[in-house]
Amino acid sequence: MVSIKSNEEIELMKHSGHINYLCHKLLEKNLRPGITTKELEDIARKFMEENDCYSSTIGYEGYPGYLCISVNDEVVHGIPSGRKLKNGDIVSLDISIIYKGYHSDSAATYPVGTINEKKAYLIEHTKNALYEGIKEVKDGATLGDIGHAIESYAHKHHLGVVRELCGHGIGNELHEDPDIPNYGKPHTGMILKEGMTIAIEPMLNLGSRNVCMLDDDWTIVTEDGKPSAHFEHTVLVKKDGYEILTGE
Ligand code: MF3
Ligand code: CO
Repeated sequence: MVSIKSNEEIELMKHSGHINYLCHKLLEKNLRPGITTKELEDIARKFMEENDCYSSTIGYEGYPGYLCISVNDEVVHGIPSGRKLKNGDIVSLDISIIYKGYHSDSAATYPVGTINEKKAYLIEHTKNALYEGIKEVKDGATLGDIGHAIESYAHKHHLGVVRELCGHGIGNELHEDPDIPNYGKPHTGMILKEGMTIAIEPMLNLGSRNVCMLDDDWTIVTEDGKPSAHFEHTVLVKKDGYEILTGE
């Protein structure tokens, strides 16, 4: 079921989104060669607690992390561990938190130290692809409009679009209806309505779009071992446009 949020609910989601944004900034500041993904998780967990927020992912269908940290060829759902980040890595931080019953979800891929041109290209264009999708959002637009904008931008830049995972509605639950694919045809699919809150999240690959799962039953990696990037914002649908709830 797709829900329309009241003004009170939107205020709570804005607060959740703001803390989410600040958590990203804090982790970004701590990114450096040598830090482990578990150390980043500890920083995030403490920050959430200090701000009356809780991780939406810990225990979610048994997921064991306070956030998802995915490195290089890992696409999404990497589990924080003793793995040390290295100069030249790219790392996707996917933060999902709950504040007074309301979730926010936001991901971004960051460089560790100095990265090569190909990885920088992947990050730049995956971020742009997210904003191409977001720009479509308004009352009366369709899910196909969003998916098409993301897919056509990605293909123009020769990047693979992961199809096995997609964005989603968000609110009282981390994952609400509808599913929001990163591909589609304009003017098709569900029509967006003012007051809906959605998470848009393209996952783009430097190589082919194909992915597979590691033996930990969580981490999704690219089949060809090439790097992947992930950007996500929680967005409010408005009458004539949108508001990003997890932005600056
Ligand atoms: N933040 C992820 C998303 O974008 C959450 C995945 S659920 C988890 O939907 F359990 F894998 F963390
Ligand atoms: Co999400």
